[in-house]
Amino acid sequence: MKAVILSKSGNSKILSVTETDISNPTENQIQLKVKYSGVNYADILSRKGLYSWSPKRPYIMGLEAAGEVINKGSNVTDLEIGDRVIYGGQSGGYAEYINIDQSLALPAPEQFNWKECAAFGVTFFTSWIALHEMARVRENETLLVHSAAGGVGTATIQLAKAHNMKIYGTTSSESKFKTIEDLGATPLKYTNFDTELLNNNIRPDCIIETVGGDVYTRGFEILAPMGRVVLVGVSSIKANKRNPFSMYKAWKALPKTSIGKVLRRSRGFMGVHLGYLLSQPEKLRPSWLEMLKVIEEHNLRPTIRDDHIFPMTEVGIAHDFIDNRKNIGKVLLDPTK
Ligand SMILES: NC(=O)c1ccc[n+]([C@@H]2O[C@H](COP(=O)([O-])OP(=O)(O)OC[C@H]3O[C@@H](n4cnc5c(N)ncnc54)[C@H](OP(=O)(O)O)[C@@H]3O)[C@@H](O)[C@H]2O)c1
Repeated sequence: MKAVILSKSGNSKILSVTETDISNPTENQIQLKVKYSGVNYADILSRKGLYSWSPKRPYIMGLEAAGEVINKGSNVTDLEIGDRVIYGGQSGGYAEYINIDQSLALPAPEQFNWKECAAFGVTFFTSWIALHEMARVRENETLLVHSAAGGVGTATIQLAKAHNMKIYGTTSSESKFKTIEDLGATPLKYTNFDTELLNNNIRPDCIIETVGGDVYTRGFEILAPMGRVVLVGVSSIKANKRNPFSMYKAWKALPKTSIGKVLRRSRGFMGVHLGYLLSQPEKLRPSWLEMLKVIEEHNLRPTIRDDHIFPMTEVGIAHDFIDNRKNIGKVLLDPTK
C-alpha cells in the first residue's frame, strides 16, 4: 500500500509517498480502507521533531483518518465489514489502509460524507473536551478562541454557538474574518484583541488557547474572575533542535502560570491532550456520544473546502499550507491520489 513514512525530522520536502506492506488485522484489530486522512498542526510539529507524543521513527505519519472497515480480527464483535469509522491515534493516518485496535474506532456520524468524517474527529472532539469537560462552559458566558478560522477554531465556534455563548475569535488575517463571522463569532486580530475587548468592557470567561507566547500572556491578563484558560496548543512555536537559542525561545513561548497567579485572582489554567485521552476509551466514549447528539441537533458540520483536500503525493504542500497560515478550517489528504 501507499503511505507517508517519517524516518527523519526536517522540512516539508522530506515527505513523500512510499510503498509498504500491511499485515492482516490481529484478533482485536479492524482494518480500514482510508477514505481521507486529516492533517493536523501536530503532524507538522512531529515532522519537525518537536512533538513529544510521536512514536519512535520510522513510522507512518497521521493522527487521524476516516475509513471503511474491510477486515477484522476474531475478537471484534461490535463492528462489521462496511462500517464507517473515525480513527484517532498516534500514527498511521497518512496511508491507504490502516489496522487499528477496535477500542480506537469511533462511530462516524451518519449525516456526514467521508470528507466531513475525516475533518471532524480531532477538531470537534478536542473542542468539545476543552469546552464541556474541562472549562465546563455555561450559556451566556463569553468565549475567546484563538486561531478561530483553523480546524479546531471553526469547530470551537460552532460548539460554543450551539451552547449560546458570546464568542470572539482571533486570526492573523482579515481575509479569514468572514469565515469567523459567518460561523457566529466576532473576529479580532492577535495584535489588539486584548485592548479591543477591554475597551468594550469585555473579559472572557473562557479562553481556548492555541497560540502561546504573548497571545497567551495578554489573554490570561484579561480573563474574567473565575475565568478558565484551556491550553490546547502552541502554534507559535518555531524551533530548530540544533539551535539552543531557538529552543530557549520556544520554551519561553510555552504558556505557563504559577499557583499565585491562578489563586490571587481566582482563575483556572487547564489543558487538553486528546492523544493521551484516546488511551482511555471508557472515559471518552460517553463524551463522544454526547457530542454527536449536539452535532445532530444543531446540524453542525466541520469546515472543509474542496481546495483544502490535497493528493497524498502533495503531503509536503499540505503541511506548508497550514504552516504558512493559509488554511481556513481543516486540511485533508486523499490517499488514492
Ligand atoms: N491538545 C490537543 O489534543 C490538540 C488537538 C488538536 C489540535 N491541537 C492544537 O490546536 C491548534 C490548532 O490545530 P489545528 O490542527 O486545528 O490547526 P489550524 O488551527 O487549522 O492551523 C494552524 C493555524 O494556527 C494559526 N497560527 C497562529 N499563530 C501561528 C504561527 N505563529 N504560525 C503558524 N500558524 C499560526 C494560523 O491561523 P491564523 O494565523 O489565521 O490564526 C494557522 O492557520 C494547534 O496548536 C494544535 O497543535 C491540540
